[in-house]
Parts: sequence; C-alpha cells; structure tokens
Amino acid sequence: MKRFTNKIILVTGSARGIGGASVEQFAEEGGIVYTTDIDMDALTSATQALQARDLKVEALHQDASSEADWATTVATILDKHGRLDVLVNNAGMGQLIPVEDSTLAQWQNVMAVNLESVFLGTRIGIKTMKEKGGVIINVASIAANVAEPLFPAYNATKGGVSMFTKAAAVDCARKGYPVRINSLHPGYCETKLVADAVAGLGNKAEAFVKAVVASIPIGRLATPWEIARPLLFLASDDARYMIGNELVVDGGYIAV
Ligand SMILES: NC(=O)c1ccc[n+]([C@@H]2O[C@H](COP(=O)([O-])OP(=O)(O)OC[C@H]3O[C@@H](n4cnc5c(N)ncnc54)[C@H](O)[C@@H]3O)[C@@H](O)[C@H]2O)c1
Repeated sequence: MKRFTNKIILVTGSARGIGGASVEQFAEEGGIVYTTDIDMDALTSATQALQARDLKVEALHQDASSEADWATTVATILDKHGRLDVLVNNAGMGQLIPVEDSTLAQWQNVMAVNLESVFLGTRIGIKTMKEKGGVIINVASIAANVAEPLFPAYNATKGGVSMFTKAAAVDCARKGYPVRINSLHPGYCETKLVADAVAGLGNKAEAFVKAVVASIPIGRLATPWEIARPLLFLASDDARYMIGNELVVDGGYIAV
C-alpha cells in the first residue's frame, strides 16, 4: 500500500544523504516530491536518476536559510498544485569547532543553515497548511539530546530545532490547525556531512570514528535509508497522534 499517493511533498537539502533517501522513498510511495538544495550538480543528477524510474520528482534551487528562496519555492509549488502536504526541513551542515576556537561568523553560519532555515520553513509551512492541513518534520539530531564538546554550535542548533518544534507544534494544536509538527533525531549516519566533518579532524579522525562506533550499541553507523524509513512514518497518518515529539533513531546511542 502506498502511503503518499499524490501528496505534495517538499524536502530541503535533499541532493544526497538523509534528504536524498527520503525523496526516493516518498516518490516510491506515490508522492509528488520537490527536492531542493544549493548543490545543483548533485541535485540534478540525483533527480534525473529518480525521474528515469518514472518517479515524480522535481528539482528546485533553494538556499534553506534564505527568506526570499522560501517564498519563491513555496509559490512555485502552490502555483502548480494549490497545496503542500508534507514539508521536511532537512537541510543542514556540520561543524567541528570547540567553543574557544570558534569565531562569531562561524557560529552565525551554523545558526543560519541549521536553525534559521527551520524557523523560515516552519513559519511558511504553517501559513500554507493551516487551512488544508499538513505535516512538518524538522530534522534535528541526537546532538539535541547529548553534548559533544567537539561541536557546540551544532549542539545548540539542534537543541534549538527540538524546542522550537515543540513550541510550534503546541501552538498549532491549541489553535486547532490541522498541522502536525515533530522533530526527527538521527544518530550518526553514513553521509557526506559526517565524512566531511571527520576528514576535517585530520590525524584525530580515526580515533574519533572508533569512539563513535564504540558508543553505538548496534555497533555501526546508520544508512540514510534506515533514517528515512522512520521519517516517512512520522509523515504518515500512522503518526497522527504525534505532535511536538522527538523521534530518536540512533542504534541505541542515547540509551546508554
Ligand atoms: N549524518 C548524520 O550523522 C546526521 C545525524 C543527525 C542529524 N543529521 C541531520 O540530517 C540532515 C541531513 O544531513 P545529512 O547527514 O544527510 O548531510 P548531507 O551533507 O549528506 O546532506 C545535506 C544536504 O544539505 C545541503 N545544504 C547545505 N546547506 C544548505 C542550505 N543552506 N540550503 C539548502 N541545502 C543545503 C547540502 O548541499 C547537502 O546536499 C541535517 O540537518 C543534519 O544535521 C545528520
């Protein structure tokens, strides 16, 4: 049974990784999926591969931290379909810099990409969905739940995403809007974000990866596919009583 037949879906930062796997799964389940990113080369080739399988996927350039890009992206979708059913605020970046070594500009960059993007998306999502209904999923992280001294700004953004999600979800519910908002908290996953961050550690990279894997009871990182499956559950009617919740998908990382 396909859960998203003819649903209009937008996933940000979805040229690859968790977003890319989500786009593929939504489309396989019948969705009409808008995939957006700033990396147009990667986005175009990923989209063409899905379109070649007759999946309904459209690529748009969108910087998720740009208010103007949000307005353009949502207007494009509404012009064509008149509604948006599912919005996944997935775009994000990693940054491994201890507090005392970070500049204000580095801090502000992560805030813009990981947290302001989620505010902008959720705000326009609520305005778009509050009459016809919809679902918003904000991709946080176990970094919203557990401190990691190597990435304090990332911790702050994901903690912010989690609490912001709860506030927005409760606001919608209390106003009687048919809009469900939740956050997804993946553990370590095999994506470019993690590969780039680890590469930046130079000769400390191997020890970092060893320590991370040793801290995951399942004993390995997740694949993007394994994170996207629970994301689709959160977007589906099976999760209709869930609002303002954190869905943790981490191989047991925060359980110990
Ligand atoms: N990989 C992990 O271990 C992990 C764990 C927890 C949470 N997350 C979160 O999952 C989300 C996806 O990360 P991923 O691991 O798949 O990373 P990824 O690097 O594979 O994909 C992220 C995508 O976002 C895009 N992007 C970056 N800045 C953007 C912007 N301003 N506007 C639009 N697109 C932008 C990149 O071009 C890239 O295609 C992020 O929010 C990340 O913080 C990842």
